[in-house]
Amino acid sequence: MFDISSGALTPERVQQFRRKLMQWYRVHARDLPWRNIDSPYHTWVSEIMLQQTRVNAVVDYYRRFMEQFPTVIALALAKEEDVLAAWSGLGYYRRARMLHHAAKFLVAEHEGVLPNNAEALRKLPGIGEYTCAAIASIGFGERIAVVDGNVERVLLRVTGRPEDNTSTGRAFVRSQAQALVPARHPGDHNQAMMELGAMVCTPREPHCKECPVFDLCITRGEHMTNPRPRMRSQTVAYGVWLRNKENATHVLLRKRPVTETLMGGMVELPLIEPEKVLGTEPVLRLRHAITRTNYYVEVYKPNFRAPSGKDLIWVRTTSLDRVAFTGLAKKILVRLDIMRSSLRDRAKGTTDELEAGS
Ligand code: ADE
Repeated sequence: MFDISSGALTPERVQQFRRKLMQWYRVHARDLPWRNIDSPYHTWVSEIMLQQTRVNAVVDYYRRFMEQFPTVIALALAKEEDVLAAWSGLGYYRRARMLHHAAKFLVAEHEGVLPNNAEALRKLPGIGEYTCAAIASIGFGERIAVVDGNVERVLLRVTGRPEDNTSTGRAFVRSQAQALVPARHPGDHNQAMMELGAMVCTPREPHCKECPVFDLCITRGEHMTNPRPRMRSQTVAYGVWLRNKENATHVLLRKRPVTETLMGGMVELPLIEPEKVLGTEPVLRLRHAITRTNYYVEVYKPNFRAPSGKDLIWVRTTSLDRVAFTGLAKKILVRLDIMRSSLRDRAKGTTDELEAGS
């Protein structure tokens, strides 16, 4: 069995690692809109968006969100619906709700100012161990390590420790990550670690030739990352009903129960039972991945009457940009030309509800 210190970096290797990592980062860091901004609020929003979501999917959402809610106060004063609509398509909508709750709490109790250390940040809604360390180090210069999946993979490969999801394994990764964090610019170091994991020390086929810490690495491409679980498949069918009333086209939408853990409170198209549309051709077929499930989605314009119910609402097609849609619903409405074309860019190419790495 491995004990906690087996494979640990020596103090000399720690120094070399830090230096080589930062040399590399200064040249190769992606120019991301939340970098080199001295604003803990900006860091906070970006780190919440980056939870379980790829950098590329976040960039445009982040820009629009910061335009719409440029300060903690602006966010606190916003309606939840508007915050969710701004998040629509990014997935894991609980993050948006918690961010909004936390902003309201800060304005009510802390004059709209974020706490300046990891321990206090951790007490805010939606901020866990990873996020409090990211905000504290990047936003406030605290010497604390950020450990996400990327950082963990880098450290296991460099030290040659196999993946080990036990408390000893996790304590090892944490202690190595913490030992590496320098006193100066800890936030840059943490971002460099994440960047290395995302760009070079990738899960499959790492780019070892480009790696700044290749000389210090025990495994050098002989990685020991466990394979990802297989994706499940599921078929779902949605119905599109349109009606004209008062010179406007309306579309029938369904609000998911707020109590639902997955996308609670978000708006989608009404689900239909596949037996009801047997023998009819869907107007649209698409594949949509959410966490570990591949959804094969079929969209029908059914020839039977629209259902009614408390959760169902008719909404003018000209007002759809104010609705907190699930990413899938937005994708369908744009593809069917029901949603205004100005929103096309927002629905295009997002990794809606995709988990990191999937
Ligand atoms: N993932 C989460 N936070 C990040 C950051 N600040 N830079 C790069 N990737 C990240």
